[in-house]
Amino acid sequence: MGPCLRRGTNTKAGPMSFTLAYNLDEADAIGAAIGGVLAPGDVVLLSGDLGAGKTTLARAMLKARGLAGEAPSPTFAIVQPYAPPEVDLPIAHVDLYRIEEPRDLIELGLDDYLSDGALLIEWPDRLGGDGWPGALELTISGAGDARVLTARVPPAWEARWPLP
Ligand SMILES: Nc1ncnc2c1ncn2[C@@H]1O[C@H](COP(=O)(O)OP(=O)(O)OP(=O)(O)O)[C@@H](O)[C@H]1O
Ligand SMILES: [Mg+2]
Repeated sequence: MGPCLRRGTNTKAGPMSFTLAYNLDEADAIGAAIGGVLAPGDVVLLSGDLGAGKTTLARAMLKARGLAGEAPSPTFAIVQPYAPPEVDLPIAHVDLYRIEEPRDLIELGLDDYLSDGALLIEWPDRLGGDGWPGALELTISGAGDARVLTARVPPAWEARWPLP
């Protein structure tokens, strides 16, 4: 089996936190594991510098839900929604990099997607606050072949952790 976030360690008290070094192949398995347990109402936040690997993980999650072909980066579209039958769970892949004002964010109406689907959000720090306290927060650091993923697992996700 691929790399498991199971391998991660619970680094501190409070929200569970896991850290894992991973390569490009493992990114696919990690994304698939998270994508496989996504349910309506879930929010996954993907943080990290330019080119950290946020879209790569989101792509693997979408692939796990049935998307054929490579999901485009939503950098320019900002919101890229997917719906059945191309995926088995409605998922909106969002990139907030170009959002400058809170008002622009409100206009996206992201919460509407949560009634029957999930949100994958790159550059969530553009929200300027904690928009979704129940979100699974993934942060990628490092570059080249030395990338590290940190997952902050909120209570809403604890029952699903560790992932297969
Ligand atoms: N774990 C990894 N190990 C090695 N290379 C990786 C890993 N994850 C992603 N990459 C590579 O890093 C590059 C950037 O990845 P990606 O587009 O996913 O980053 P991003 O964080 O979404 O960037 P942006 O900030 O522009 O949205 C790609 O070439 C990808 O293949
Ligand atoms: Mg990206």
